[in-house]
Amino acid sequence: MNYLIIIFNYYISKLMTASSNLLPVHNRYNISFCCGFGCYLYSNEQAYLDFGAGIAVNALGHCHPKIVKAINKQSNKLWHVSNIYNVNELDLFSKKLCNATFADYVFFCNSGAESLECAVKTMRRFFYCQNKPHKHRIITFSGAFHGRTISAISAAAKEKYTQGFGPLLEGFDNVEFGNIEAVKKAINENTAGILIEPIQGEDGIKPATKKFLQQLRQLCDQHKILLGFDEVQCGYGRTGHLYAYQYYDVIPDVIASAKAIGGGFPLGACLMKKEAGDVMTPGTHGTTYGGNPLAMAIANAVFDELSTPIFLENVTKMGILLKDKLNSLKKQFPNIISEVRGVGLMLGIQINSNYNNDFIVKKFIENKLLTIPAGNNVVRFLPPLIINESHIDESYNKALTSLNQVN
Ligand SMILES: Cc1ncc(COP(=O)(O)O)c(C=O)c1O
Repeated sequence: MNYLIIIFNYYISKLMTASSNLLPVHNRYNISFCCGFGCYLYSNEQAYLDFGAGIAVNALGHCHPKIVKAINKQSNKLWHVSNIYNVNELDLFSKKLCNATFADYVFFCNSGAESLECAVKTMRRFFYCQNKPHKHRIITFSGAFHGRTISAISAAAKEKYTQGFGPLLEGFDNVEFGNIEAVKKAINENTAGILIEPIQGEDGIKPATKKFLQQLRQLCDQHKILLGFDEVQCGYGRTGHLYAYQYYDVIPDVIASAKAIGGGFPLGACLMKKEAGDVMTPGTHGTTYGGNPLAMAIANAVFDELSTPIFLENVTKMGILLKDKLNSLKKQFPNIISEVRGVGLMLGIQINSNYNNDFIVKKFIENKLLTIPAGNNVVRFLPPLIINESHIDESYNKALTSLNQVN
């Protein structure tokens, strides 16, 4: 029966793709939404509990009144001016972000991949400016995902993403995630830095250990190279801290940030220490749209809501509750779920190989629960960070019903 449903869904999705004018790069579930409020998305007057949050983007849920107010207010004043002028909202937000983090500088852009681009360019130029242009190689990790630009796919070096897009950008040494000996072996006189997702998202919610990140910091200090964190998915509140480096208590030199920082409005940011950022002089990097007044007004409103200790403590609390519920499902369905892992509200359930994560996600959708598939047969739970206990109970009940139907 399950097999028949999979075949049926496959042909429906083929039919949808065939009749579409969209570049067929995204597999889509056959559902669309007309609106969203709080933790719910609505389709045909049916409410779906959104525990995917646009892949960790809608941190404050949908149409949060304070964000709507900020958009409305700013959209009546000024949307875009060039970065050749001062932008008050931009100055304000950069100050807030740097005050709340290790960073002295921040560069704003429009997406995660762009924030990575800035991080990679900064790491390379840091040594170029010390008359060491040979020091341009960056160590990256198996299972990483850094976005879809040529530099991002070259950095992650995963065949699934790189196939057909060569020649790739030279200068990345990809080693096993979590293997400190492999990192030590890979460091040489040409190494500029190390780039890592503290919690790998696309590969199936794989948190690095604190010890591993501490060891990376020590190695970077010892070799005087830079440590970059890709916090596009795991950053901005998801761990119960503004950034995951604060959860791990390991301070990087550069951070790539995006997704939740705009609460649903396209926004990326690359944060860095002064020594790293001082090399990025006028003309070395830039953007047309990054840091525009509309994006910054929204970012300021998101930050004011999300960065308070009360808000972040609640993320930690809800993360523990949700993990407990997922572990309870694991106990009841050991044939379907083999592991629950993650930090805060960045959680994943490992689906056993006799089931397919996509099939489970579809079952959840049938029961009005939205989750996100990830690599290695994992289903991600990335709810808006505003959830309360009743949302967790509801997600549990919907998942329970779904898994009973699958069993
Ligand atoms: C860890 C990580 N880095 C980078 C990116 C790329 O972000 P974007 O799709 O906004 O370019 C993603 C997107 O999923 C991500 O999860």
